[in-house]
Amino acid sequence: MPQHIKRLIGVFAVFILFFLVLQQVLKPDSFGELGHFRAKAIYENSLRPMHYTVADSCTKCHKDIRIDKDLGFHIKLKCEVCHGPALAHSLYAGNFKDKELPDSLTLYKPGERKDCAICHELNAARIKIQFDTLNTTMVHQIDVLTHHPFDPKTKVPFKCIECHNPHQP
Ligand code: HEC
Ligand code: HEC
Ligand code: HEC
Ligand code: HEC
Repeated sequence: MPQHIKRLIGVFAVFILFFLVLQQVLKPDSFGELGHFRAKAIYENSLRPMHYTVADSCTKCHKDIRIDKDLGFHIKLKCEVCHGPALAHSLYAGNFKDKELPDSLTLYKPGERKDCAICHELNAARIKIQFDTLNTTMVHQIDVLTHHPFDPKTKVPFKCIECHNPHQP
């Protein structure tokens, strides 16, 4: 074998050895115990605080709203889509029946035009639906700037919820 090839093999061997040593030194603790990832990551993630609850948990205390919603066009929307993460609220709001909720348990009430526009604003990239039907996942789009923007007499801007019940629009 020519001399320069032998040297090249030597250099490669040193590199490979160096890589193997480096790999052992840098490999995180618990890597590979359960698969190609850190086994401890599962435990670490389980310690992170939870913010969302299960969709059904609101029904216990807000049954009428749930029934209203499930009879209308918003049947497919989960409560937390509009009201935000509500785990703490679901667990503790029951202690404040007929009292004012503390700030930490108060939920967002999406009553502004921009809140409804998140889903209903005209969007050229979305399919337009033709028929009013409850059994659709396509959102009816309107031009938020021209769809009843203000009271024609007083010129005061309209909120969407002055005409549409958000739970049964
Ligand atoms: C253990 C009972 C309980 C559960 C479960 C519960 N709530 Fe409530 N909720 C209350 C009480 C009590 C109030 C305050 C008084 C009232 O408005 O009836 C309240 C008020 C609210 C309000 C009005 C807040 C405000 O600032 O006016 C919203 C919105 C709300 N809940 C949404 C939800 C959603 C969404 C869920 C499910 C993720 C949920 N709640 C689960 C008991 C509960
Ligand atoms: C499309 C968004 C949307 C969804 C979905 C939604 N809400 Fe609301 N919710 C609102 C808005 C907007 C208000 C404020 C209404 C107002 O100020 O008159 C509100 C108000 C409330 C209130 C305060 C009391 C009231 O009647 O005004 C409660 C309680 C509530 N929602 C619970 C729920 C629960 C429970 C669900 C799921 C079953 C749900 N909401 C789903 C938008 C929504
Ligand atoms: C998270 C997305 C989302 C948000 C936010 C939302 N909607 Fe909807 N909305 C839907 C879906 C999905 C439907 C059912 C499909 C349809 O009919 O457009 C619907 C249906 C409707 C309809 C019936 C449309 C029809 O076909 O006749 C009205 C009216 C409506 N929403 C008003 C509102 C108002 C007012 C708000 C703000 C309080 C709001 N929506 C917020 C998703 C949303
Ligand atoms: C002054 C009352 C009023 C206000 C304010 C209002 N709407 Fe409407 N909306 C109506 C009426 C009436 C209809 C049915 C006839 C029509 O299309 O105008 C309707 C229809 C709709 C539809 C069904 C679309 C269709 O073509 O039939 C959607 C979605 C909707 N509105 C969402 C909204 C949203 C989102 C807002 C706030 C940005 C809003 N509306 C504000 C009265 C109102």
